[in-house]
Amino acid sequence: MGKQRRRTESGITLVGPGRVGQAMGRLLHEAGLPVRYVAARRMASARRAVRFIGAGTPIALSDPRVIDAEVLLLTTSDMAIAEVAGALAERWSARSIWAGKVVLHTCGSMPSSILQPLKQRGAAIGSVHPYQTVPSPAAGVRNLRSCYWGVEGDAAALKVAQSWVRKLGGISFRIRPAQKALYHLSAFLVCPTEVTLMEHARRLLKRAGVPDSIARPMLAQFVSETVKNFAEFGARRSLTGPASRGDWPTIERHMALLRRTAPDLLPLYRELLRAMVRLARRRAPQSLYED
Ligand SMILES: NC(=O)c1ccc[n+]([C@@H]2O[C@H](COP(=O)([O-])OP(=O)(O)OC[C@H]3O[C@@H](n4cnc5c(N)ncnc54)[C@H](OP(=O)(O)O)[C@@H]3O)[C@@H](O)[C@H]2O)c1
Repeated sequence: MGKQRRRTESGITLVGPGRVGQAMGRLLHEAGLPVRYVAARRMASARRAVRFIGAGTPIALSDPRVIDAEVLLLTTSDMAIAEVAGALAERWSARSIWAGKVVLHTCGSMPSSILQPLKQRGAAIGSVHPYQTVPSPAAGVRNLRSCYWGVEGDAAALKVAQSWVRKLGGISFRIRPAQKALYHLSAFLVCPTEVTLMEHARRLLKRAGVPDSIARPMLAQFVSETVKNFAEFGARRSLTGPASRGDWPTIERHMALLRRTAPDLLPLYRELLRAMVRLARRRAPQSLYED
């Protein structure tokens, strides 16, 4: 680039404002932090995000103001983080631009080193990942406030991440960059899988004649009670049902029913049974694991 000197403004630029970006933007703004710019690849997305957040100037990703704020929060989809960071570093290559700036991303599975091109330019890099599920910006505003956040990165980036989490009433904890994939795997194992299992349960209930208007709130209540028990008593004491009691005839009836009505669920049922039996420290008849 030709002339690259720009004045650094205090505050935040949000880059790639999807569900997490808009929710965080709104919460940071409501917590009193200045959201200066909201940059998106399409101006319509930037404008929509600014309306939702209630602050900031919508700009295109190519707008020079994208690098004016002290802190850049990259909330693009995972696949785009490296590309966007690389493009910023290439376009704005002067160290004088990046020195003193912090760049954070919100991805759970990848470490902050994915922002390395910006660190090479002089920025402090980090990641601030909400261990939470954000299916919409509005849901994020509700559930990101007091949630748990895994943070890692350079000292200056960590300081910003930790102070944001404090301002949002949340709890931050350090995660080792090399362990982020494992950390993210743990989230995958409970959240989207839980939704998938609940949907299977809803379908079985429907076949049993229970309408969705009952099934969905009933499942939600059932699962939230289970979750409370897990938090309070730990896994073994929360485990109920036929596998924990060693009631193999009931399990056999379940499996016979699955063979007739939903054979696609049989492998899933078996693997879950295997894990449950291990957790309950029981021994199930081998025949339950065979066709
Ligand atoms: N959703 C969750 O439950 C959750 C929870 C924790 C952490 N996270 C993490 O938070 C980050 C954002 O997730 P999200 O769920 O908010 O994603 P999202 O709703 O799908 O939004 C992604 C945003 O990235 C933008 N984007 C995609 N490719 C781009 C590119 N090449 N250049 C510029 N912008 C691009 C999209 O812009 P367009 O609108 O133009 O497509 C969109 O605004 C991810 O790292 C994700 O892993 C998500």
